Amino acid sequence: MKKYLLTGCCGFIGSNFIHYMLKKYTDIEIYNIDALTYAGNLANLNDITKDTRYHFIKGDIGNKKLVDKLFNENDFDYVINFAAESHVDRSIKNPEIFVKTNIMGTVNLLNIAKKYWLIDKKFKKGKKFLQISTDEVYGSLGQTGLFNENTPLNPHSPYSASKTSADVLVSAYFDTYKMPVNITRCSNNYGEYQFPEKLIPLCFNNAKNLTNIPVYGDGNQIRDWLYVIDHCKAIDLVLHNAQDGEIYNIGGNNERTNICIVQLIIDYVQKNITPSCNDNLIKHVQDRLGHDKRYGIDASKIKKDLGWFPETTFETGIIKTLNWYKDNQDWCNHITSGDYAKYYKKMYEDKGI
Ligand code: NAD
Ligand code: TYD
Repeated sequence: MKKYLLTGCCGFIGSNFIHYMLKKYTDIEIYNIDALTYAGNLANLNDITKDTRYHFIKGDIGNKKLVDKLFNENDFDYVINFAAESHVDRSIKNPEIFVKTNIMGTVNLLNIAKKYWLIDKKFKKGKKFLQISTDEVYGSLGQTGLFNENTPLNPHSPYSASKTSADVLVSAYFDTYKMPVNITRCSNNYGEYQFPEKLIPLCFNNAKNLTNIPVYGDGNQIRDWLYVIDHCKAIDLVLHNAQDGEIYNIGGNNERTNICIVQLIIDYVQKNITPSCNDNLIKHVQDRLGHDKRYGIDASKIKKDLGWFPETTFETGIIKTLNWYKDNQDWCNHITSGDYAKYYKKMYEDKGI
């Protein structure tokens, strides 16, 4: 029975990862520590709360006492750190919480894992600390080229700067203590349970509710979209098969402009939910400060070393995703009724839409 300490799994990627792992393995026990910030939603894991292999702990990854107690009570084999403040726009408004969670929280997890895993100057066998990072640590690309694992780190937003700091710290624990760590840097994920402040679910919600869709600047920024389950498969492979200290890029090989994504969602909603939805909902608004123009991932290292590649075509993945949002409108409505609604009302007012 392998014991996993997973953090931030009431959010988007983590909840998908738990679903994926509990389906794939029988001999695992998962402890999910999540602070339940605005982005954490217990409903994402409703279906597994009675699974005896799953345990939920409400708490902050930066809480020394709590994390120490968890390690004291459990001999964890793996730590995977998904927990983060994850939204660039929020980081522009309020950077401090990004430093606290993304940097200080990560250091706390590293320190306590090291305390329990390092015995007589040697790390116990089979342990692994996996940091879930982002392609945003590399900064922005021009019209050509891709990020590989040796691309210099050059983050621009407070969010990506905080993720970069965490990456550098995780690497430092490998260089200094030989702690068994890996880092994965993925591109933009899409799929079920994504909080509707991110482009795809936000655009879906607004389109179906006939609310204006804010497109930052000209909308020609490019992201490389990765289906979340393909990402989960890559995490599983890295966790179990990667050499200590290795860093892996994970991408969808699927670059699209934002405006192309928005147009696709409008077309879907018009055809399947709200016939009167159309392009008039698109409102070009003031660009994001320091907006990265293009992200593009070279994922050849993980293909070569571990045999991973993005299996899901965008055409299949996006329809699966939008069908899920269509069939789970209660989930969307529930989530958009609280703090999120207030936050967006204010942001839309600030942007004049
Ligand atoms: P999310 O915002 O949907 O979820 C974050 C989760 O972390 C929430 O459940 C929240 O409650 C929890 N959390 C926040 N602060 C915490 C704290 N101090 N202690 C414990 N829990 C806390 O994020 P996501 O999209 O699922 O992203 C997961 C990870 O993947 C993050 O580290 C993010 O940087 C990275 N990432 C995400 C994407 C993407 O496209 N979503 C792309 C690249 C990298
Ligand atoms: P987002 O989903 O916030 O992810 P990230 O900033 O981490 O890439 O945004 C994806 C792209 O969509 C990004 O270029 C910003 C843009 N965007 C809009 O144009 N309008 C929006 O309302 C949002 C949320 C994002």
